[in-house]
Amino acid sequence: MAQLMEHPAVTLPRVGKQGDPCVMVIFGAAGDLTGRKLIPALYNLAKADLLAKEFAVVGVARSPVTNEDFRKKILEEVKEYGEEEIDPALWEIFSRRFYYFKGDFNNQDLYPQLKDFLAKIDRDHSTQQNYFYYLATAPNYFGPIVEKLAAAGLMEQTSEYWRRVVIEKPFGHDLESAKALNQQLRKVAEENQIYRIDHYLGKETVQNIMAFRFANGIFEPIWNRRYIDHVQITVAETVGVEGRGGYFDHAGSLRDMVPNHIMQLISLTAMEPPISFQADAVRDEQAKILHAIQPMSDQEVLNRSVRGQYGEGILGGERAPAYRAEADVAPDSRNETFVAMKVNIDNWRWADVPFYLRTGKRMPMRNTYIVIQFRRAPFVLFRDTPVEHLMPNQLVLHIQPEEGISLRFAAKVPGPVMRLDPVDMNFEYQEYFGKQPSTGYERLLHDCMIGDQTLFQRADMVEAGWCVVNPILDLWKALPPRNFPNYAAGTWGPKEADELLERDGRRWRNFEK
Ligand code: BG6
Repeated sequence: MAQLMEHPAVTLPRVGKQGDPCVMVIFGAAGDLTGRKLIPALYNLAKADLLAKEFAVVGVARSPVTNEDFRKKILEEVKEYGEEEIDPALWEIFSRRFYYFKGDFNNQDLYPQLKDFLAKIDRDHSTQQNYFYYLATAPNYFGPIVEKLAAAGLMEQTSEYWRRVVIEKPFGHDLESAKALNQQLRKVAEENQIYRIDHYLGKETVQNIMAFRFANGIFEPIWNRRYIDHVQITVAETVGVEGRGGYFDHAGSLRDMVPNHIMQLISLTAMEPPISFQADAVRDEQAKILHAIQPMSDQEVLNRSVRGQYGEGILGGERAPAYRAEADVAPDSRNETFVAMKVNIDNWRWADVPFYLRTGKRMPMRNTYIVIQFRRAPFVLFRDTPVEHLMPNQLVLHIQPEEGISLRFAAKVPGPVMRLDPVDMNFEYQEYFGKQPSTGYERLLHDCMIGDQTLFQRADMVEAGWCVVNPILDLWKALPPRNFPNYAAGTWGPKEADELLERDGRRWRNFEK
């Protein structure tokens, strides 16, 4: 049988160990995620020699498709969505590992047949009975599919082989439903079999938050309330709902972005140094931060959270339609496309240091970044000079699309009088390390193959994230907004979001194109 290892195109020095021998079973293999992300990510892993030679993929979907057609389809997808030129010889070996299994995953009868099919693939590819099931399906199927897998004996693992299931957010639509999903999964699977993806953790720059904080001696000593005035997290998108109006008009920005992606950014920024980089050591520290974010009272929701919905506007020089005019969105929708809030982390390190968060669709630019604003220097020295006020230092972690870190400090403007200007010291990932082909899923798929759960959400973390947003969801539901739309597409959100900081004598750091 052909082996990836035999192929001369695999010449890069391998960084990290190869995944375990295994079969990846993709439910929803005909869908968008499979073509756009999963298959290109697997190809990148093959190129980097990170897949075991004993590896195979089984795509499960309903339409009658042959293995050959399935292989042709994924080739088209990798050509379209992958960033790398395809090496025909490597592709030949890679694609022979892909199999198609026709069936309806809602039907219990499918699973015993799938079991027999997997046993055959396992024999042919020597995958040692290790299987992981990637549920690239609508979230309401997660629980039922895992139950059916378990009923067919496909979740049982031993000391000889493992079985894992991978699911991606949303995990429920509020605290109660998230708990119910966790309970349903935990009835038939151990926590160490459940890999909950938050794709933000697949981003290099998000992982770099930990490296930056814990691999450098100079930042950690000042990473606390004595030196930090406040933290801002901005996740700005230029896109609208991109054909996902049906989902988004029920979810809204708060559910879509805050309990998951934004909570990841907060917890990595604020957590204590873990005692090791073992999965549970890191996740314990993240979870502590999520538990330390105090859920808001009704009055606090009113004072500390802002919601918005975009109206028509101009973005990138072109007219952008109002949210209510998007496909599959109710013409009188009261769903939010923007949210901002101020949260407090009640622990020793962060007492009285506000974390301001905002995320929105149809913002002026796509930009995700974290601003750490330090306390101002004492003013004394600059009396009797033209310097009227001192700018605080800001450290900015640029997550995307620019990936890097910048530090803002004041410098003297050359000349005979004492004048100061803010200047930036910049580090750009790409300039230093070059561009790596990445879909953001390589690391996560590989971690699943080697059994490393560090970058995956534990049940308690998911629930803690919902605990933070649930009081806001409840109050917003009870008091529907009366002023929507309240910001124009192509702007930084409603004015209340600016006022949220202005009331505290602060302002958002916005970047220009
Ligand atoms: C998804 C949300 O989880 O993240 C989308 O459902 C959002 O609404 C997307 O656009 C943002 O991801 P990224 O990687 O583009 O920042």
